[in-house]
Amino acid sequence: MTGGITVGEALVITSGKGGVGKSTVAVNLAASLGRLGCRTVLIDADTGLRSLDVLLGMENDLVYDLTDVAEGICKLRQAVVKARDVDGVSLLAAAQLRDMCSVPRGRMESVASELRQMFDYVIIDSPAGVDLGFRIAAAGADRAIIVANNDVICQRDAERVKGLLERAGIGDISLLLNRVPPEKLKKKEKSSCALMAERLELPLIGNIRARASVFREAAQKGRPAALESEEMARAFEEIARRVMGEDIPVQPVRMPGFWASLLKG
Ligand SMILES: Nc1ncnc2c1ncn2[C@@H]1O[C@H](COP(=O)(O)OP(=O)(O)OP(=O)(O)O)[C@@H](O)[C@H]1O
Ligand SMILES: [Mg+2]
Repeated sequence: MTGGITVGEALVITSGKGGVGKSTVAVNLAASLGRLGCRTVLIDADTGLRSLDVLLGMENDLVYDLTDVAEGICKLRQAVVKARDVDGVSLLAAAQLRDMCSVPRGRMESVASELRQMFDYVIIDSPAGVDLGFRIAAAGADRAIIVANNDVICQRDAERVKGLLERAGIGDISLLLNRVPPEKLKKKEKSSCALMAERLELPLIGNIRARASVFREAAQKGRPAALESEEMARAFEEIARRVMGEDIPVQPVRMPGFWASLLKG
């Protein structure tokens, strides 16, 4: 997916509820798309509470941010920085000391549209909530992935976010269930993830197991877990391929032998 004139796609990663794993999904999806040869740029739209620079080990590589671009302090190209250790991935960081109002919706739209000309995928990491920050993040997007945990509160929030995205004109929305406990992914029964997607009437683009230590260690190293753990590499590669339009059925995740036998018993 290189060469020629690019008209890439912009995807917003959003959730409503906070702390469900949007930023984690954003960096790992970007790393997997990059690994598959897609030129990918991440926009951290969580102005005031940025995190993607840390997750990519880029805290010391940044000079400008999205607010600087919005205010005309620098050119877009000056603020987009290539990740040193993550092939194919660049970052447009959020300002840490400003608030959402520093990036008007119209500026987000024009930034995303300019980046679509330069990259195959623009991944926008939305802040939590359904207020201004969410609306600004969604303004730049053609498609959306709603990240949710497998519980009733997340389900209700996802429903609300889905409605708001549709009202904003984004019709291509899928659901990614994150931090799913292994018992919800048993092979024999119809997994509860598939049921939740059915209830929300959203296509399920993937489910990621709860693996606190894997994500914690990756974050400490400033590396996406998809480049550190084989299990996460596989899981996020499948999600990336589905984003690219490949028809790969979403299977309940197979558990490693020891845990599987425990749960069977
Ligand atoms: N599959 C997972 N298993 C275990 N821990 C996870 C998983 N995904 C994310 N986490 C952890 O959950 C915490 C929150 O993740 P993250 O920052 O990505 O959420 P967020 O939705 O972006 O939060 P916010 O709403 O504050 O922006 C982090 O500590 C992260 O390492
Ligand atoms: Mg986040």
